[in-house]
Amino acid sequence: MATLAPQHLALMPASHACALALALVASGSLRAQVVEVNLTAAPGTTQVAPGVSVNAWLYNGSMPGPTLRVTEGQTLRVRFQNNLPDSTAIHWHGQPIQLGMDGVPDISRPAIAAGQEFIYDLNNLIPGTYWFHPHGHEMQLDVGLASVLIVDPANPGSDPAFDVEQTIVLDDWANPLGGAFSGHLLNGRSSAGQNPISVQPGQRLRLRVVNVAATTNYVFALDGHAMTVTHADGNRVQPVVVQAIPIGIGERWDVLVDCNNPGTWSLAASTIENRNATMVRGIVQYAGQTGPMPAATFVPTNLASGSLLNYSQLASYFPVQPITSTPNRTFTASLGMGMGPSGMIHTINGQTWPNVTPFQVAAGEHVQMSIVNNGMMMMPEYHPMHVHGHFFRLMGTAGGTANPPKKDTVLIRPNGQPGSSATVQISMDNPGRWLLHCHNMEHMATGMMTAIEYNGDADGDGVLTRSDYEPMLPLPVVTISDQPSAFAPGASGAVRVQWTPGQAFGLFIGPNELALWVSLPGLGTLVLDPTSAALYGLVLTSTSGVATLPYILPNNPAIIGLRVGMQGVGVVPPANSVVLSTFQALTAR
Ligand code: C2O
Ligand code: CU
Repeated sequence: MATLAPQHLALMPASHACALALALVASGSLRAQVVEVNLTAAPGTTQVAPGVSVNAWLYNGSMPGPTLRVTEGQTLRVRFQNNLPDSTAIHWHGQPIQLGMDGVPDISRPAIAAGQEFIYDLNNLIPGTYWFHPHGHEMQLDVGLASVLIVDPANPGSDPAFDVEQTIVLDDWANPLGGAFSGHLLNGRSSAGQNPISVQPGQRLRLRVVNVAATTNYVFALDGHAMTVTHADGNRVQPVVVQAIPIGIGERWDVLVDCNNPGTWSLAASTIENRNATMVRGIVQYAGQTGPMPAATFVPTNLASGSLLNYSQLASYFPVQPITSTPNRTFTASLGMGMGPSGMIHTINGQTWPNVTPFQVAAGEHVQMSIVNNGMMMMPEYHPMHVHGHFFRLMGTAGGTANPPKKDTVLIRPNGQPGSSATVQISMDNPGRWLLHCHNMEHMATGMMTAIEYNGDADGDGVLTRSDYEPMLPLPVVTISDQPSAFAPGASGAVRVQWTPGQAFGLFIGPNELALWVSLPGLGTLVLDPTSAALYGLVLTSTSGVATLPYILPNNPAIIGLRVGMQGVGVVPPANSVVLSTFQALTAR
């Protein structure tokens, strides 16, 4: 069998290239554990209080959906089945993952059609409290499709100590699919449906609070207790003690509560506009307490008038890229509103999505952006501005230029009020085209969304490739066995590849699948040769757009698998197969 050394292979032409990357995985390397979960989105009903059900679209039948939890360093593989009557995608809010996994239909890749499966392979996850939801179909943000992703730090010592923890998911429910309830929810239930969070005196309670609402920014507080803020949007901050915390749509706050005031207490949320009305409340109850539950309408003093967290108090706990006084580019994002032909519009720099001029950046740059609310003072509006694929570093905080806090969502207050603008810096370290938008569903749906777009050859390999700008293509698709035995030393099998006939198709050969692309003529047998430092592969002649590539793995116990990376879309795979719908590496072992 002929083998080809990489230096003999011509670089493939730049545009519309797709690549199949194959690499042997030697034992000892890439031992990252893969945590595989099944997630299904489907219509259903959910109880928001005893005897009160609503129609919803749900992840795994519940609202919020299942909390996904992995440890830093693990790969989270989500085998996602779309059983909705509509196409969808999952956005992993706040996690700076690769564009192809970011779950924005028509930007990161095509939507997952009704009935189809897609495998999200999420690696390099950042520790902290995150969440996930659909994107691009604004209605889907309002029907129950939301849940929490928790990534525990690999070193538990990098989190503050606590005894008990509870996730608090705040949501507004406008009943879009019919049902008897509308109002606000805490962990998917109204105030009438709450089970107390029980604590022991002396314990330290960690709350991970997430706002998944469609249109409501909240303030939350725990009666009888102060809260120590420890994490902002997943990122650890220097402790700040407050009595109440504003939480914009999409934001997360982790707080610690010292349980030193026995009783039965309201954990209450109001809207940000009116702290004098409780919209929904949970309960924190100390062991042995039998007192009555606080009334659903009770407004704790902390909520109404307690000291409120302000971004200016935040400083990163861990070292971060400092604020630079010489950013490569400086932008303004002016948030506005106006009347369009069919009603109210919301704009960024006078434009409405999708008719926008993206912010142009290049890899490696440090960009500074001022986000300014220039909306009408007569119609005060909050804008929880969220960036995909990156973190904002907030300027003008207690962290100064050395330790600015990192966040992915910044709540911009109404024009004319303190906090109506924010200046942030972003390190452009994740090539692609990324959304920047207001997370208020109505503002987003009426235009308040734009993009940040990388230009040029971001990875410096001399080729404009998917690493620089991942194209949005329905093909190719790779189907590969999901049986470990298919990749045991000495095993043989076949990989099925489907692509657009006539399109350039590249096969990577080499130890680093992102380093070099080559184009190979002809169809052949895939041969992986462990005796060489380089890896060899060979592919494709068929003009039908489908090929089956037999492979033979060397009978070498040091080889524990085959790593394949691919970009494409999800289709329903044959039994015992997976569809590689990602250009991220999948390790079959
Ligand atoms: Cu929570 Cu564009 O996303
Ligand atoms: Cu907004």
